[in-house]
Amino acid sequence: MLVSDHIAGGVPAQELFSCQQAVKHRPKSGQARLELARASLAVDDPAEAVEQCAKALELQPNLRDAAWLLASLVQRYEVNENIKLSAGGLRAALQFVDVDRQALCKAAIASLKHISPLLNAVAVGQAEDWDTVAQSSLRGKGRKLLQDRLFRTALSHGINTDVEVEFLLTALRRALLAEPERLRDRPVYEFACALIQQCANNGYVFHTTAAEREQVDALKIDPAALFEGQGDSAGDLMLAGLYKPLSTIIDPTLARRGYDRIAPRALRLVIANAITIEQKESEIAMSLPQLTAVTDEISQRVADQYRSAPYPRWLSLQAPEPGTARQVLGNYFSDAEITCLDTPFEVLIAGAGTCQQALHSAITYGKQARVLAIDLSAPSLVYGARMAQQLGVENIRFATADILGLGGISEMFDVIECAGVLHHMSDPFAAWQILVDKLKPSGLLQIGLYSEVSRQTIAALSNDPDWPGSNASNEALRTFRHRLMQRTPSEPGYELTTSMDFFSTNDFRDLALHVQEQRCNLPDIRDFLVSNGLEFRGFILPPSVRQMYCDMFPGDSMPGSLDHWWQFEQRNPRTFDGMYMFWCRWEANSR
Ligand SMILES: C[S@@+](CC[C@H](N)C(=O)[O-])C[C@H]1O[C@@H](n2cnc3c(N)ncnc32)[C@H](O)[C@@H]1O
Repeated sequence: MLVSDHIAGGVPAQELFSCQQAVKHRPKSGQARLELARASLAVDDPAEAVEQCAKALELQPNLRDAAWLLASLVQRYEVNENIKLSAGGLRAALQFVDVDRQALCKAAIASLKHISPLLNAVAVGQAEDWDTVAQSSLRGKGRKLLQDRLFRTALSHGINTDVEVEFLLTALRRALLAEPERLRDRPVYEFACALIQQCANNGYVFHTTAAEREQVDALKIDPAALFEGQGDSAGDLMLAGLYKPLSTIIDPTLARRGYDRIAPRALRLVIANAITIEQKESEIAMSLPQLTAVTDEISQRVADQYRSAPYPRWLSLQAPEPGTARQVLGNYFSDAEITCLDTPFEVLIAGAGTCQQALHSAITYGKQARVLAIDLSAPSLVYGARMAQQLGVENIRFATADILGLGGISEMFDVIECAGVLHHMSDPFAAWQILVDKLKPSGLLQIGLYSEVSRQTIAALSNDPDWPGSNASNEALRTFRHRLMQRTPSEPGYELTTSMDFFSTNDFRDLALHVQEQRCNLPDIRDFLVSNGLEFRGFILPPSVRQMYCDMFPGDSMPGSLDHWWQFEQRNPRTFDGMYMFWCRWEANSR
C-alpha cells in the first residue's frame, strides 16, 4: 500500500510512514515488521497487516505478539489469493499454544489452496477422482504435496475445515492403507505422521469404508517391538494410528522403556505426545472433585453424551490480555456495577465443557478472580484442567456437578457464565432460575441459549432421510457427514459444512445428533427476565450487527430492547446463529 493513499489519515498515516522507514533501515527486524503491521491496521489495511505479521515471524519465529495479531486478523479476514503469506511465518505462528492455531490452520490451508501443489491436487481430485490424485501423491514428483512443510504443520496443529481438502486427506489415508510399502519413503512417512495427528485432532471424523475397516482390523501391530527399536513394526502402527487413538493401541506402561528407540523420529514424537496426554489426563481424573451428584434422568442422558464426546474440541486458545475484564464488561455495565472486580471475587462457569470459554474468562478476569468450572462430564473437565496446566492458568478449579443440584451448595457468585448449556436440560428456564438464585445482589450473569429462528436447519435435520438419529454410533455419524459432504451446496444439509463443528466427531455430534436440545425465542427470554426482576444488558455481537440494529431503530441506544431485537431477528434470521448470548443483572432495588 502506498503511503500517499493515507496522507489524509493524519496521525495513523504518519505512523505508517515512519514504520515503513524503520523496515527499510532494519529489514531483518521482526519487531519493525510487527510495528508496520499494527500501523497498517490503523489505516485499515488488514491485508498488509497480515503479510507483515507473517514476515515478522519468518524473521523472528519467537515473536509471540506477531503470532497473536496474525491469528486475530485471520479470525476476522479471509485469506484470498491476493494475500502473499510467508509460509515460514505461518509455521512459526502455529507453534504457539496461546494463539488461535485453528484460525491459523484455516488460513494456511486457504493460502495453500491458491498455489500448487495443493491447487493442482484439488483440481485433479474434482475433475477426475480423489483416489487417483491420492495415489499419485505417494510417488515421484507427486510427493511435493506431502513434503509441503506448512501443510504438514497446519494438519498437526489444527483441524482442517475445508471439504475438498478433507476428500483429499481421506483418499490419501485410503491410499496409504492400500500401499503400505510407500511408508518406507521418508516424505510419505513424515506426512503420515502429520495425518495421524490430524485424525487425532478431529476425533477420527473421516469417512471409513467397510474395506478399510477390515484392513485395519487385520493389521499386525506390535507396539512393544517398536519401543525396542524394531523399525519393521512402525508401518502397521502408523496405519492403525490413522484410524484410532494411539493411546488405545499402545499400552501406556510401555512408556517406562522410554521413547528413544522408536523410529522414525516423526512417529516417536506423535506417540510420545499421545501417551503423555493420556497419562496427564488419567492423573488429573483421579483427583477431580464431585460437587453434586447427577440423578436427573435427562442430566444422566446428556452426561453420557458428553462423557464419551467432550465438547468443544479445541487445541489452542487466543489468550486475552490478563485482567482485561473491566474493558470487556464496560460494554455492558457501568463502572459502579463492576466494582466487584476490585477485590477477590467468585466466578462460576456452569456447564464449562472442555473449558475453552472457562479458561478464556479466567485469564480475562485476572488474578483477583476465583473461578469454578463445573460440568456433568468429568472427561470434559479433565481436558480443560490439562489445558489450564499447559496454558499456565492458575485461578481456576474444576468439579463435576449438575446445575440442578446447585441449590444444595452454600457458595454465591459475583459472576456466572452459562453458555450453550440450559437448552440441553429438561426445563431450561427452571435451570436458569437456579443460577439466578446463586447470583449475589450485585452479580453479573451471562447466558447463551439456542434461537428457534436460527436453528431451523438443525431442527429440520431429524426429517432428513440420511439422519442416523441422536445416539447414533460414530460409524453412523461419519456416514451421515459423508453424505452431507457429497450433496451440492444448494441441497438441504450441505450448509452444515460452513460450521466449524462439522469437522470433528464430538463437535458434529453436538451440532447435529444431540440427545437433548430445545430452542427458545426472544419473547420467552424477555418474559423470564421481567418476572425475575432482571435487566437485559446487551447481546454479545459484532459491532457491525449492533450498528445494523441502530440503523433499524435510530431512537434506541444500546443494549436496545428485546422487543426490537425480536423484530430485528425476524428481518435478519441468521443474527443469532451461534446462540442468543447476552449479559443481564438484577434490576436496581430488586434485591
Ligand atoms: C454444548 S456444551 C457447552 C460447553 C461450554 N459452555 C462452551 O460454550 O464451550 C454443553 C455442556 O453443558 C454441560 N451440561 C449440560 N447439562 C448440564 C447440567 N445439568 N449441569 C451441568 N452441566 C451440564 C454438558 O455436559 C456440556 O459439557
